[in-house]
Amino acid sequence: MTTAQDGTAVPTDEVLLRATDVTKHYPLRGARRVLRAVDGVSLEVRGGETLGVVGESGCGKSTLGRCLVRLTELTGGRVEFGGQDISTLSTRRLRPVRPGMQLVFQDPQASLNPRRRAGDIVAEPLLVHRYGDAGAVRRRVAELFDVVGLAAAHLDRYPHEFSGGQRQRIGIARALATNPRLIVADEPVSALDVSIQAQVLNLFADLQEEFALTYVFIAHDLGVVRHVSDRIAVMYLGEIVELAETEALYTAPAHPYTQALLSAVPDIDDGTLADDGPPRERIVLTGEVPNPADKPTGCPFRTRCPYARERCATERPRLAPGASGRQVACHFPLAG
Ligand SMILES: Nc1ncnc2c1ncn2[C@@H]1O[C@H](COP(=O)(O)OP(=O)(O)OP(=O)(O)O)[C@@H](O)[C@H]1O
Ligand code: SF4
Ligand SMILES: [Mg+2]
Repeated sequence: MTTAQDGTAVPTDEVLLRATDVTKHYPLRGARRVLRAVDGVSLEVRGGETLGVVGESGCGKSTLGRCLVRLTELTGGRVEFGGQDISTLSTRRLRPVRPGMQLVFQDPQASLNPRRRAGDIVAEPLLVHRYGDAGAVRRRVAELFDVVGLAAAHLDRYPHEFSGGQRQRIGIARALATNPRLIVADEPVSALDVSIQAQVLNLFADLQEEFALTYVFIAHDLGVVRHVSDRIAVMYLGEIVELAETEALYTAPAHPYTQALLSAVPDIDDGTLADDGPPRERIVLTGEVPNPADKPTGCPFRTRCPYARERCATERPRLAPGASGRQVACHFPLAG
């Protein structure tokens, strides 16, 4: 058990978020096909842990993140938060659930209203959720600024008057305002200089410890998520192809796609290839990522997989549990 911002006990290690066969399909204008942005994702996130989600651009990470906090309607499947199925709740019923789950966006510049002062931006969720009178809101905003390392003098400034890292701190303060238990952070450091990335990642880590937060942390490369994740889900064309404890995934990737991603990971600490673990040969994937509206039959990765065999073209591999909680969707996994 740990203690949340509002003083309530938070059970850790219990499943806080459970997604079951979540799909999000977008209809294509003038075509019978659909774009399979998220295509049958099942995962669990335990209280207090960080689940990293990685994959190339367009693989469905943001769409999945939005499905998990019900910022977009699901096409199919279900999402449970704190044991409650939130995927079919009406807007009215969803309202009391919303404060508990928040999203931090990739681009702090685009996600903050340029015409509003930083203090008002952070106050907005408090007003929406009727936190208290004007004095209580002001005190809470000042407290949140302090928590994310912004000065009181910053309250009246506009977003353009901040650096990228400071703007992301405003976004984080806004997400924290309603005492969430879960934060889905969608590439929260990708838009920042490398030197600033580490500071913001450290802030995420400190906040998690202080407020017993649970994170789903989205990134497009494995370098960033390694430092913050307990477990990592690797996505390809709307599906999770591997989900494993971070160290297990780094030392012995089981899915050929994970292996390829990993072979090109620059370590965030020194900008060079990670030198721990077994030596890695750089695997350059050939071929384009297929269109999610026109996914290959069988294994979605088979058009780029160096290990593809006949079976891969006909039979879709399912994400199956393996040793030590690892799950992998491959007919011929590289590790157990
Ligand atoms: N509102 C939408 N309407 C139609 N297609 C969409 C919509 N949102 C996303 N898509 C498509 O769904 C797929 C997944 O997009 P998504 O933004 O989730 O990927 P991503 O992994 O977050 O990519 P990136 O790393 O570039 O942020 C892409 O093919 C994208 O074009
Ligand atoms: S199922 Fe076949 S094509 Fe797919 S990742 Fe495994 S070996 Fe490669
Ligand atoms: Mg995205």
